[in-house]
Amino acid sequence: MAKKKWKREESEEKATPAQEMNNKPNNKRKRNNQVFPFGNYRNYYGYRVGRDVEEDPRLRIFKKEWFEGKDCLDIGCNSGVVTVDIAKKYNCGSILGIDIDSDRIEEAYWYLRKVVKMESGEKKHRTDSSVKAAAKVNSSGQGDTFSSNEGTNGISKDCPPPMKRDLSDIVYFQRENFVQSRPHPDKSFDTILCLSVTKWIHLNWGDDGLITLFSRIWRLLRSGGIFILEPQPWKSYENNRQVSETAKLNYRNILFRPERFQEILLDKIGFRMVEDITSGLSGTKMGFDRPIFAFHK
Ligand SMILES: C[S@@+](CC[C@H](N)C(=O)[O-])C[C@H]1O[C@@H](n2cnc3c(N)ncnc32)[C@H](O)[C@@H]1O
Repeated sequence: MAKKKWKREESEEKATPAQEMNNKPNNKRKRNNQVFPFGNYRNYYGYRVGRDVEEDPRLRIFKKEWFEGKDCLDIGCNSGVVTVDIAKKYNCGSILGIDIDSDRIEEAYWYLRKVVKMESGEKKHRTDSSVKAAAKVNSSGQGDTFSSNEGTNGISKDCPPPMKRDLSDIVYFQRENFVQSRPHPDKSFDTILCLSVTKWIHLNWGDDGLITLFSRIWRLLRSGGIFILEPQPWKSYENNRQVSETAKLNYRNILFRPERFQEILLDKIGFRMVEDITSGLSGTKMGFDRPIFAFHK
C-alpha cells in the first residue's frame, strides 16, 4: 500500500518540458502588474496544459495528413509548446512559429532545445538497447535468423520509428507582428494555424487587422492548403477590452464579430469549405471550450 502511494507521488513529481517551462524562473524583471496587451502571456501553457495533462488536447483532434511532411506556420505561437509538440507528434516537413513578443520567442527556443535534448537522450537509449539485444542474439548463435518483428538491422519494429531529422532542423521561431510586417511573396505553406489569436489582433488593430490577417493567410497558403482557426468568442472580448485605450476604442467599433468569421472566410476570402472539428474536444478536462475549424483552400 505504502509503495503504491510513493509511486504516485513520484510520477506527479515528474514534469514534462512544457510543465517545467512554466516553472522556469525568469528574474529579468518583476512580474507584478504586468499587462499582456497582445495575449502574450507568460506561463500561458500553465493554464492550457495542467500538471496532470501530458498533451494539449487540441493536438488530439488535428489530422496527421495536415502536418506529416508539410510546411506549416503557427501564427501567435507564444512560447512554442504547441508548435514543437505538433512537429514532434506529426513529423512535419517544417514548422515556423511566429509571435509579436520577443520574450515568448526566446522561451520557445528554450523549449525546443529542451525537447531536442530529451529526444536525443531517448534515441541514444533506444540505440544502446537494440545494440545490446543484437549482441545477445549473436552470442546465443542465432545471429542469422530474425524473428518476424525484427528489421534487418536487428532493431525491433515495435520501437516507435525514429524521426528522420532532428527537431531543431524542422522547427524555427521568429519574432514578427503578422499584421504589420512586410509581406513575404517568396514564402508559402501547406498548413497555417491561428489558435486563440484573433481576439488580440481584433482588439489591437480592429476589423482592418482581422481582414489583413485572413487575407495574408490566404496568400501564404498553397492551393489545397489548410487553415486551422480557433477564434475566441465575442463574450471573451469584454474581459480584455480594457488592456489599452486602443483596445477600448476598437472594441466599440468592431463589426465583424466571431460569428461572422466563417462567412467572411468562405464568401469574401475564398476558402472552398470548412470542417468544424470542435466535437473531438468534448470530454477533455482542459481546454477553453472554444470552437476549432479547418478551412480548406
Ligand atoms: C493567447 S496566445 C495563444 C498561443 C497559441 N497560439 C495557443 O493557442 O496555444 C496569443 C498569442 O498571439 C500572439 N500575437 C498577438 N498578436 C500578434 C501579432 N499581430 N503577430 C504575431 N503574434 C501575435 C501573442 O503574443 C500571444 O503569444
